[in-house]
Amino acid sequence: MSLGQKILVTGAGGQLGMELREIASTECEWLFTDIEELDICSEVAVREFVKSHHVGVIINCAAYTNVDRAEEEQETAKRVNSDAVAILAKIAKEYDAKLIHISTDYIFGGEVHNTPIEEDAEPSPLGVYGDTKLMGEMAIVESGCRYVILRTAWLYSTHGRNFVKTIMKLISEREQIRVVNDQIGSPTYARDLALIIRDICSECIAVEGIYNYTNEGEVSWYDFAVAIAQICGSKCEVLPCTTAEYGAKAPRPAYSVLDKEKIKRVLRCDIPQWRVSLEECMKQMVQL
Ligand SMILES: NC(=O)c1ccc[n+]([C@@H]2O[C@H](COP(=O)([O-])OP(=O)(O)OC[C@H]3O[C@@H](n4cnc5c(N)ncnc54)[C@H](OP(=O)(O)O)[C@@H]3O)[C@@H](O)[C@H]2O)c1
Repeated sequence: MSLGQKILVTGAGGQLGMELREIASTECEWLFTDIEELDICSEVAVREFVKSHHVGVIINCAAYTNVDRAEEEQETAKRVNSDAVAILAKIAKEYDAKLIHISTDYIFGGEVHNTPIEEDAEPSPLGVYGDTKLMGEMAIVESGCRYVILRTAWLYSTHGRNFVKTIMKLISEREQIRVVNDQIGSPTYARDLALIIRDICSECIAVEGIYNYTNEGEVSWYDFAVAIAQICGSKCEVLPCTTAEYGAKAPRPAYSVLDKEKIKRVLRCDIPQWRVSLEECMKQMVQL
């Protein structure tokens, strides 16, 4: 991307979008929008925006992210995660803009994995959320636009709603909590992901294709919650339970750790360990 080019960020009121706002570089003009300014489901509005602002890069942080509710609101999830992504890809192609799109480890789960999943593994979503996110990915690939799809997982931030904040609240209110210990993944501090996206936008890096990005390491939700409680110095007892005992509405992958060798090789980046980033994020939360 050339100096002064304009970068449109959609869904910029969410966790990742808010992190991007905080680290946006000054060499480019960033146009931050959420649904009130730009509804990505409106083809007319997206085309008008991209055309009138001469957008060179679209970073799509907008999504329907409520995994359990998606099981009931299938149409809405599809409209935002699949149909609107197809619109963005079509318009990116029309105006030769590059589309940077965020996808998820939840496109896996139907096939049993027990080692980190590479970018070219066969997707096998278990629920509506993963299904609709996969359809969004497919629409991008088929559109012929220039794209980067970044698959991430277990996103948290000082902004928005997320697991870290939920656990911090629960351990401050209760003496004992139970957390699922048979789902293994990699937490991701949205700030780390935002920094990688900024690198991808920089003019010296011309990557395209599908890339995995999460923090380093793998944990269960239970391990993750124990770490949060330890960092808080909480006396609340964190106990393990099974997915079946917890009984969430949407099915989730038992193991969805994403392999990051490709992004580390291509971008020559060091990825922080999940615990280091968790401590950093929680430090930021205390300062807010
Ligand atoms: N959160 C995770 O654990 C996780 C894990 C893996 C991948 N991801 C992916 O990472 C990306 C960023 O996730 P996030 O956690 O930052 O999401 P988020 O906090 O839920 O933010 C998404 C934002 O998109 C907005 N939005 C929804 N529909 C829209 C529309 N039609 N037009 C414009 N904006 C719209 C939302 O507004 P409202 O809040 O008003 O709906 C919200 O501000 C998403 O693609 C997500 O699928 C997330």
